Amino acid sequence: MKKLRIGIVGTGNIAGVHLDAYKKVQNAQIVAACDINPENLKTAAEKYGIKNTYPTLTEMIKNEELDAVDVCVWNCNHAKCSIEALNAGLHVLCEKPMAANAKEAEEMIEAAKRNNKLLMIGFVLRFDDETKIAKDFIDNDYLGDIYYSKAIYLRRHGAPGGWFTDKSRSAGGPIIDLGVHVIDLTRYLMGKPKALSVFASTENRLKNRPHLKTSVGWKPKDAKPDDVYDVEDFGIAMIKYEGGKTTLLETSYSINGESVTKKELYGTKGGMNLNGQSTKIYTEVNGFLADIMPVTENYNDSCDMFEAETRHFTDCCLNGTTCIASSEDGLEVMKILDAIYESAKTGHEVIIR
Ligand SMILES: NC(=O)c1ccc[n+]([C@@H]2O[C@H](COP(=O)([O-])OP(=O)(O)OC[C@H]3O[C@@H](n4cnc5c(N)ncnc54)[C@H](O)[C@@H]3O)[C@@H](O)[C@H]2O)c1
Repeated sequence: MKKLRIGIVGTGNIAGVHLDAYKKVQNAQIVAACDINPENLKTAAEKYGIKNTYPTLTEMIKNEELDAVDVCVWNCNHAKCSIEALNAGLHVLCEKPMAANAKEAEEMIEAAKRNNKLLMIGFVLRFDDETKIAKDFIDNDYLGDIYYSKAIYLRRHGAPGGWFTDKSRSAGGPIIDLGVHVIDLTRYLMGKPKALSVFASTENRLKNRPHLKTSVGWKPKDAKPDDVYDVEDFGIAMIKYEGGKTTLLETSYSINGESVTKKELYGTKGGMNLNGQSTKIYTEVNGFLADIMPVTENYNDSCDMFEAETRHFTDCCLNGTTCIASSEDGLEVMKILDAIYESAKTGHEVIIR
């Protein structure tokens, strides 16, 4: 069996999740890893039995015969690492957000085209069972034309600290880190409409609240209580798409309210609520308002979302399968994210070109 020879770029938290997932993908082989942080590199190499390790991507590319890399580094280095790998003739799976801004995303797409290589973006929620089931109903026209959605990803107290709250490395706070997931997902389920404009607001009020004795959420390996915090901790946006469609985004690292992740879709024939636990469809049956809750036990396409994502990437590289998390979608989302930050800064609606 031909195996895809993969190098991991960045060996922090999410790389561990990818490495666990690749173990289940028979035609994927992790041959090397690199990280600028020797401690993280050593820990991951020992845990996952990776023999060949390097302090930089450049050295890994020079010394290894790779087919692909999986880019799991800070947001500020997504473009740099992806472009270097693409220029070396390697396929790339790049974690979300695609880049720090849309200009970088465009440069990444140019590099992928120039070198005729795949650039897939880690929009992992697209591979979740919940999404696949929702898409099945949508493709079979249970919702009609979806003209409104809510994209909600609120953490009550989940300011990760570390690089996440250092704008020079993250490019932003919960909007670019959490909002990116739900913006992409709602847009994907609405049929990938083109974004026209954004009106947004952000705040940085509560920050990381180091006096608190509890926290929830994702912590990077380098997080400390006195970490720099120069990103927003809360953001809202109204995104207008072509065809009269809109999305309302709410996201936070820190807010005095419930921690919740929700995607709600409103269509002409039905609505849908995806909350990570049970999918509910609001519709009409036989002249009555009716709710449908699909039974998803033993769903025949069930798979852990990271396993499904890494398996799909491997299939796309080896077999030319059409990628369902394309860099073109990544760019569209980056344009929306840029517009959100621009609107929050200027206080005006921002038109997306
Ligand atoms: N899909 C998801 O749900 C999900 C969840 C968490 C994080 N992420 C994304 O994964 C990426 C990494 O996040 P994390 O939580 O693993 O962070 P992390 O800090 O745990 O790991 C990042 C690693 O990248 C290394 N690194 C940075 N620049 C590098 C470079 N130029 N070359 C080599 N190594 C480099 C760091 O030293 C660090 O070890 C981010 O883009 C984040 O948005 C995605």
